[in-house]
Amino acid sequence: MLDKYEGFSRTHGAGQLNEKNIGETVSLCGWIHRRRDHGDLTFLDIRDRYGLCQVVMDPNVSKAAFEKAAPVRKEFVVGISGKVVARANNAVNPNLSTGKIEILAEEIKIFNEAKTTPFFIEENITADENLRMKYRYLDLRTQHMTRNMVMRHKLIKCVRDYLSDNNFLEIDTPILCKSTPEGARDYLVPSRVQKGKFFALPQSPQLFKQLLMVAGMDRYFQIAKCFRDEDLRLDRQPEFTQIDIEMSFVRQNDVMAMVENLATYIFEKTAGVKFEMPFLRIPYDEAMELYGSDKPDLRYDLKITDLTAQFKNAEFPVFKAAVAEGSVVKGLKMEGCANYSRSETDALGEMAKSFGLKGIVTVQFKAEGIKSQLTKTMSEEAIKKALEPLSPKQGDLLLIATDKKDVILNAYGRMRCEIAKKLNLIDSKKFAILWVTDFPMFEYDEEEKRFVAKHHPFTSPFLSDLKYFDSGELDKVRASAYDLVLNGCEIAGGSIRIHDRSVQEKVFAALGFTKEAANDKFGFLMEAFEYGAPPHGGIAFGLDRLLMLITDSPSIRDVIPFPKTASASCLMTGAPNVVDEKQLKELAIKQIAAEINA
Ligand code: AMO
Repeated sequence: MLDKYEGFSRTHGAGQLNEKNIGETVSLCGWIHRRRDHGDLTFLDIRDRYGLCQVVMDPNVSKAAFEKAAPVRKEFVVGISGKVVARANNAVNPNLSTGKIEILAEEIKIFNEAKTTPFFIEENITADENLRMKYRYLDLRTQHMTRNMVMRHKLIKCVRDYLSDNNFLEIDTPILCKSTPEGARDYLVPSRVQKGKFFALPQSPQLFKQLLMVAGMDRYFQIAKCFRDEDLRLDRQPEFTQIDIEMSFVRQNDVMAMVENLATYIFEKTAGVKFEMPFLRIPYDEAMELYGSDKPDLRYDLKITDLTAQFKNAEFPVFKAAVAEGSVVKGLKMEGCANYSRSETDALGEMAKSFGLKGIVTVQFKAEGIKSQLTKTMSEEAIKKALEPLSPKQGDLLLIATDKKDVILNAYGRMRCEIAKKLNLIDSKKFAILWVTDFPMFEYDEEEKRFVAKHHPFTSPFLSDLKYFDSGELDKVRASAYDLVLNGCEIAGGSIRIHDRSVQEKVFAALGFTKEAANDKFGFLMEAFEYGAPPHGGIAFGLDRLLMLITDSPSIRDVIPFPKTASASCLMTGAPNVVDEKQLKELAIKQIAAEINA
């Protein structure tokens, strides 16, 4: 077979040419993005990673090249050589970096042909996402996906540069790990050598990075692959990447200061955004109280306002009774929405119900007076007084509801986001970054009927709260944990760790582990704490989530080269797939055929 590439060498990337190259003879390699035939001339747009460039096939320049280009179609892979010339004024394309020039082709080589692709390689692609995933290598050819991959590289390079310059060592940790309880479900890998036993893929390198601190590595980082078998959302993948960091001899403020510097460096280099330091810090309780979320979007205000005291004795029986039974009353203000129609206010009620509330009371501050169910039992005067904390003005619409505190805060947190979208309150150019701190150490899991760790069991409780372990008031224990939140998305989470065996044992016991079970699962860690463990702490960024925000992508799948679908499969390769009976036999795994075929 002839080597068609023999004797051809590329001088530039297609998008790298501009007026400065006028007069030069250049050679480009790439894909045919577009072909236009204008009778005596043919225009070919050549595309590569660097951009697009227009090439003119003119028989007066080279008849041979013009004729050779006749069969060339979209996505053929070609090489062309020719002279860079200025485009005529009326042919300049201001939207293209190469828009002022074109190449008069003297030679064209066809390296490979291409079938008609399942979708056009173009911007604002409308093809079905499943099709894009199946032909991911074609999807990645689009300019915006290429740009996302370039940004992914840039981001990783920034992280490596910054952390390497600050004394961090990049150390890799195993992928075949031990399955441990807590956290999400594990991906398991059967061992052939030790039949009946399994490795787990790491949900994060948490324990290894802590052991690296015990090993004296002092400052560690890793661009780490993590695997979690959990329900997927727009910002979740079963296989994702963390910027994983751990530091010895630090307190919470040291880790936070380092992370602020790193985040500021990254955003300046990748997105051209400058953050003001220090970042805002909000304790967990306050974030929940004001925004109904531990990852509040602060690009807009729209705070949740407490009205419990006001309605405790107000003449509105539903609220009065609810408060008497321990519920709270909360309000949200929609400015300028007093003239909503009945169907619009009903829709808000439906939204509230879909988020778990029994309903809402709307209060419309109209020019002609207040319109609300409250007026049935309360005077305008009394209503105004009760709603004073929301400072309503004429033209505003207030949403008032009652329920148990966690139910209503959760519902109002979600309504807050929906209302902000509806009222166009979100400035998409803004980056609102903040820390949420002082998390509870445990939360009660209704399904499992026990306390689980809010972050993970290796997080240090406030030492001043250790007394609550003994008194059994686990809901009062706070943790030295901190999350970094950007535009309503948790981009990083970390904590100061336990480095003392007795404290670690207390936490395992609180989580319901017997001493034997804790030893069986985590004995290696607790033993390490007995050989000189330094105080340490760290954090992990979700690299993909970070990139989603930097590139303003609607889905995490847009920034991962080869992502999985919502049902955790790879449409391109067909993974996961059925394997040979022989492979299963070697692993001593019995297929339950009926179940698999179901
Ligand atoms: P955590 O579980 O909070 O902490 O994860 C850290 C960050 O990783 C991102 N993230 C995800 N991104 C995409 N898909 C997922 N399924 C997914 N799950 C998490 C989030 C999150 O903030 N070992 C600890 C970190 C530490 O304590 O140092 C950990 O893994 O952006």
